Amino acid sequence: MNEHARPLTLSERADELEEQMMQTLNERIITKSVLFRMADGTVEIDNGQALLAANPGKHFLMGADPRLPAMPEKPTLIDFFKYRFGPAQHLLQSAAHARDTGQPERIQLACLLHDIGVASFIRCDHGYWGAQMIEPYVDEEVSWAVRTHQALRFFPDPSVGYEYPEMYIKYFGADYKPEPYIVAEYERARNHKYYMTSRMICVNDIYSFDPNAKVDLNDFIDIIGRNFRQPEDGLGFDSSPSAHMWRTLMWPTRFL
Ligand SMILES: [Fe+2]
Ligand SMILES: [Fe+2]
Repeated sequence: MNEHARPLTLSERADELEEQMMQTLNERIITKSVLFRMADGTVEIDNGQALLAANPGKHFLMGADPRLPAMPEKPTLIDFFKYRFGPAQHLLQSAAHARDTGQPERIQLACLLHDIGVASFIRCDHGYWGAQMIEPYVDEEVSWAVRTHQALRFFPDPSVGYEYPEMYIKYFGADYKPEPYIVAEYERARNHKYYMTSRMICVNDIYSFDPNAKVDLNDFIDIIGRNFRQPEDGLGFDSSPSAHMWRTLMWPTRFL
């Protein structure tokens, strides 16, 4: 039975939720992975025993981080867009450009997903990470294109009007040269049957940094439904080769 004699007001409800959250934070020790710390310039690992000793009676967090938006039990790609991807306008604008220039759905989807590595996970080698995340759920052409845009974006292709992006000169300096593994990837990709799919990611990419354009994720729900094989048990719970990546996004501060 509810202990409250009357329904809670909104502000009481908010207080109660905050209280619950504080308790969870107080009960659980939240740690950072080595990779998170490296971004601050240190290579360190939390000492579990020392942390336990410093927090008597507490345990390490082994599930959802109460500071982050809650995820549904069986999360979909859309849920990850909403709750775990950073602002996704760049992806949405890329996909919208592909759509508005009459490109097929698989290219629209590739554009929609091409930078999810950056939007959710890590910048370094984002094309490879993003491709690995989606590989079990999309046609191989789409994941191949996402993986390979990592390399292709550094090389012009006049046949489709793609030049080395001006922005990269600003970002990386005029003397930046891609590493040999990127050059080798480009050389391998040039004659691949899916080359042009990946190239179209680059073509749609450069038009997609307009701060004023607003594209709605709802515009792409149908395309996702038709082209992304959403697992019934939820992303992260389907035992696919990349399920662990989705779980890690869901629970980025879980102790193990
Ligand atoms: Fe990218
Ligand atoms: Fe991009």
